[in-house]
Amino acid sequence: MAPVKLLAGLCLFTCLHIVSSTRLVCYFTNWSQYRPGVGRYRPENVDPYLCTHLIYAFSIIGPSNELATYEWNDDVLYKSFNQLKNTNTNLKTLLAVGGWNFGSAQFTTVVSTPANRQTFIRSSVKFLRRYGFDGLDLDWEYPGARGSPPADKQRFTTLCQELLAAFEEESARSGRPRLLLTAAVAAGKGNVDNGYEIANVSEFLDFINIMSYDFHGAWDPFTGHNSPLFRGSFDQGDNIYYNVDFAMKYWRDQGAPPGKLNVGFATYGRTFRTVSAADGVGAPAGGPASAGTFTREAGFWSYYEICTFLEGGSLGWIEDQKVPYGVKGNEWVGFDNRQSFRIKTEYLKNEKFGGAFVWALDLDDFAGQFCGQGNYPLISYLRSLLGSDDPTPPPPSSANPPETTPTSGPIATETARTTAAPAQTTAAPEPPVSAATVAPGADFCADKSDNLYEKSDDHNSFYQCFRGRTFVQKCPATLVFNISCKCCDWPK
Ligand SMILES: *[C@@H]1O[C@H](CO)[C@@H](O)[C@H](O)[C@H]1NC(C)=O
Ligand SMILES: *[C@@H]1O[C@H](CO)[C@@H](O)[C@H](O)[C@H]1NC(C)=O
Repeated sequence: MAPVKLLAGLCLFTCLHIVSSTRLVCYFTNWSQYRPGVGRYRPENVDPYLCTHLIYAFSIIGPSNELATYEWNDDVLYKSFNQLKNTNTNLKTLLAVGGWNFGSAQFTTVVSTPANRQTFIRSSVKFLRRYGFDGLDLDWEYPGARGSPPADKQRFTTLCQELLAAFEEESARSGRPRLLLTAAVAAGKGNVDNGYEIANVSEFLDFINIMSYDFHGAWDPFTGHNSPLFRGSFDQGDNIYYNVDFAMKYWRDQGAPPGKLNVGFATYGRTFRTVSAADGVGAPAGGPASAGTFTREAGFWSYYEICTFLEGGSLGWIEDQKVPYGVKGNEWVGFDNRQSFRIKTEYLKNEKFGGAFVWALDLDDFAGQFCGQGNYPLISYLRSLLGSDDPTPPPPSSANPPETTPTSGPIATETARTTAAPAQTTAAPEPPVSAATVAPGADFCADKSDNLYEKSDDHNSFYQCFRGRTFVQKCPATLVFNISCKCCDWPK
């Protein structure tokens, strides 16, 4: 592989298709066309060689149970999207139907009767062929949830079965390659249990995108990572399920062939506003950080917005979960960078999962204008990792490792801009303790709910209980913990 690798290194992403072999599925979103300025993203921005499959998100189901466009200009975008295949003839495109905002109700109607299903299925075949898609991606979030009754778990299986049968029938009739049938599915254990007959649906789907992100966000009272690879040592209760590793193995162990499963990679982070001096993972939080300049949605930042945030902020690493986070002032973001992508890819390969999918193209630094790491720094790196059969170096084990990877070549090289992990930038004369310290042998929190508590022998400190684990936090030097505001305050 050495010559190929060298070539890839010389011509950057335009030649990357030479080295990739594993499935890399990338989502395009219909709303990124509305972002301001350089955030605007359209099919013309997609590098046709970046991914093996592209999925257009989202189409919807109309009131008469037919597959339909959502945006006024979707048909124009569909056209330029599918024209990418004129450049890369190996590229496959799929149309996703549903999504979080679309909800469950219309899917419930579709699956409720054989006639409705047939209407949807027939319209889908026509629609996909008309616009030149190679398949359909079902993004029902989720069967058996958000108003969808328990019976939809079985009905979803039936829908998949009938869709596949219709796709096979159409292929035999037309002589064209069969349309692909795929799904983006829940990663949270409760939604998985209620939503899918795993072994059954796996039989009918060509591949399955496990949405292994959004595990933690501003809805939680404590900072937590969007997409941790592993369970954190502090995780308790249902939180032990909220990680990539659990979700992937849960699907696999209930009968999904690992080769059909794609690990979800996020090119965005989820944000919090911390409310005490603590700023590690599990620090008390009250809502989201400010909205991003381009994505304009509180609680959510694109990777390129995070690059900007990290300038003058600090970069941390959650060692047991193998993912980074960033802190500046009281704003906190759990996200993915090249280092966590590399570790997740090693995991994917070791476990023999079929591939990766990325949410989403437009959230990476697609034009290379913010991170100083070239175009699509995360996705093109992922592409090179998936295609490479060179042994990968072991992950670093230091608590706050530099992002630079030991692999040589321009693709793997990080520039200094976001790799620097500057020290705390707080202007306070006595900076607050940044990392939570566990008192040796402390079991203060063993029977307490998640909250902050007074420390009677030291008013300059307080206890933070998080999932039964005890953390002793320190206020800035001149302040004391005040139980009424649960904050560090001037002494009375
Ligand atoms: C894109 O499509 C989805 C359909 O799921 C819709 O909910 C969403 O609002 C659309 N985009 C914009 C900008 O509205
Ligand atoms: C799923 O598979 C099981 C076991 O083969 C079967 O009993 C069940 O009927 C299947 N479900 C559907 C909806 O076909």
